[in-house]
Amino acid sequence: MRIIRTDNYDALCKIAADIITAQILLKPNCVLGLATGSSPVGVYKMLVQKHRDEHLDFSRVRSFNLDEYVGLSPNQEQSYAWFMSEHLFKHINILPANTDIPNGIAENIQNECDRYDAKITSCGGIDLQLLGIGQNGHIGFNEPSSSFTCGTNHTRLSDSTIKANKQYFETGKRIPTHAITMGCRDILQSKRALMIALGDNKALAVRDMLTGPITPMVPASILQLHRDFTLIADGAALSKLENHKLAVNTLTSP
Ligand code: F6R
Repeated sequence: MRIIRTDNYDALCKIAADIITAQILLKPNCVLGLATGSSPVGVYKMLVQKHRDEHLDFSRVRSFNLDEYVGLSPNQEQSYAWFMSEHLFKHINILPANTDIPNGIAENIQNECDRYDAKITSCGGIDLQLLGIGQNGHIGFNEPSSSFTCGTNHTRLSDSTIKANKQYFETGKRIPTHAITMGCRDILQSKRALMIALGDNKALAVRDMLTGPITPMVPASILQLHRDFTLIADGAALSKLENHKLAVNTLTSP
């Protein structure tokens, strides 16, 4: 496990974008696992810049997103399909056929979960999985529960996740209560995992993920077993680790 501490969001995004770039250079036809939410927005912005200015080539890259809300179609602005198109896909040369996001309006959600896992497997698994972390320790939309999830699954969002996501929906609009998410097993099986965490509202989740027991009550704690896990975080997200002996690499911006 590697922990990198940065002093601001730009520095954090730059390191994450550099690691993703290195993955693409190492294996131009790599499989990226992508996340949505506020944390990766700046990372995607830097990848777009690298594509424009440094010709970073996505033409052979494949991607799978972590999750999608059930009931939202890709042309609804709050869907994660829309998010990915706006923040990344439409600005780079990735082939639309090489991007996959769970279909939130599939007629049979279980079949869609099975299709998603089979597709990930047929592509050889995820080379690098980008992650954020929920305030309750969720990864993807694997919420605290009594057992770790396996593959892609249909999940009920916890009240705290619904509350945290409220900001993205207009007042009065129905907020989704369910999602399709890659499972903890899918995430654990990725060859590399890269998490970005910022803000003091993530500090307890980060502490429990890294120093608490490995328990499905803190889904991110399963990453303690990941073969190649890097956390890039700001001081606020790492603030509850002060009494724990963890090696933290501090990178300050020039
Ligand atoms: C999003 C996802 C979630 C978010 C998490 C943090 O695809 O899987 O686990 O990464 O909820 O969200 P932000 O970055 O908005 O704090």
